[in-house]
Amino acid sequence: MALVETRDQAAPRLLAHALHSQIAMHQAYGGVVPELASRDHIRRVLPLTAQVMREAGHVLADIDVVAYTRGPGLAGALLVGAGVACALGAALGKPVLGVHHLEGHLLSPFLSADPPEFPFVALLVSGGHTQLMRVDGVGQYQLLGETIDDAAGEAFDKSAKLMGLGYPGGPALAKLAEQGDPAAFKLPRPLLHSGDLDFSFAGLKTAVLTQSQRLRQVSDEEFEARKADLAASTQAAIVDVLVKKSLAALETTGLKRLVVAGGVGANKALRAQLNAACANPRRRGGVVRVHYPELHLCTDNGAMIALAAAMRLQSGQQRALPAASFEVKPRWPLDAITVATA
Ligand SMILES: Nc1ncnc2c1ncn2[C@@H]1O[C@H](COP(=O)(O)OP(=O)(O)O)[C@@H](O)[C@H]1O
Ligand SMILES: [Mg+2]
Repeated sequence: MALVETRDQAAPRLLAHALHSQIAMHQAYGGVVPELASRDHIRRVLPLTAQVMREAGHVLADIDVVAYTRGPGLAGALLVGAGVACALGAALGKPVLGVHHLEGHLLSPFLSADPPEFPFVALLVSGGHTQLMRVDGVGQYQLLGETIDDAAGEAFDKSAKLMGLGYPGGPALAKLAEQGDPAAFKLPRPLLHSGDLDFSFAGLKTAVLTQSQRLRQVSDEEFEARKADLAASTQAAIVDVLVKKSLAALETTGLKRLVVAGGVGANKALRAQLNAACANPRRRGGVVRVHYPELHLCTDNGAMIALAAAMRLQSGQQRALPAASFEVKPRWPLDAITVATA
């Protein structure tokens, strides 16, 4: 939940934002339980709205446009947001805007101290998506490549689960990896030399399963003793592929800017390797600037959705009053959207 202010074409300013994490609720189940998620959305959405308005020093009547996530995502959770946003818009007599979840992620670095400029290559890495996009402006998105099976965050989460690291696995695996040797296990890097910009992470998960089973067969102590090495090797495999494909996308497009967004963008090893590779003057294509969202805005948040809506409006996006009915899009390709101008 967030409140953003825009003045003409100046960069939108974040006035306040609040987030309720459902991690603790889902932890007991080792993953997201969709029905619990949407019910919790119902409980949290109005108190969070009140909190944000209070912190921003505004009242609901000050709002000019209401934005919500229209998709992609879990239908139940999306419907809660869409329902509340459309009801609020109708009550206030103000327009509502349905925002693409991934557009929020890829524009989120515009809220950072070092915002990017268009055009850029975007690496979107989250629990549900792994995509490389060419971004020429707001609403100008061209898909360059994507995962053909698991997402990068999913690879982190599933590998972590196999190692008994709990949910959410990404940050836990990354933490354990700090104490391990990334070269200890030779794990596959699928599609690394495929010549295209697609990814595949399902095979890595199988390799992690095989290695875990082998270690456990020796003994539980052996597994515990080598777990950090396995975590470090898993992270290295994922990061290696993400870095190489990002560099390939920069070469293919000839662009000099990279934006990394989505939950996995918080990964320290990924950031360190991307920064090192992009700062290398001997790299084919030369030095590349890399931009990230603020760390706390890497994983899902309301600020990026409010920001994306504000940037769309600045780009001439038409405002529409809420209709009597609304729909969400659980599946929605990012390159299918443009800025709808009058
Ligand atoms: N430091 C980290 N290292 C690796 N993965 C991470 C890290 N922090 C978060 N993640 C992963 O990011 C994903 C969540 O991304 P997010 O965009 O919030 O969710 P979603 O994909 O549901 O939209 C999870 O798979 C999580 O494990
Ligand atoms: Mg996300």
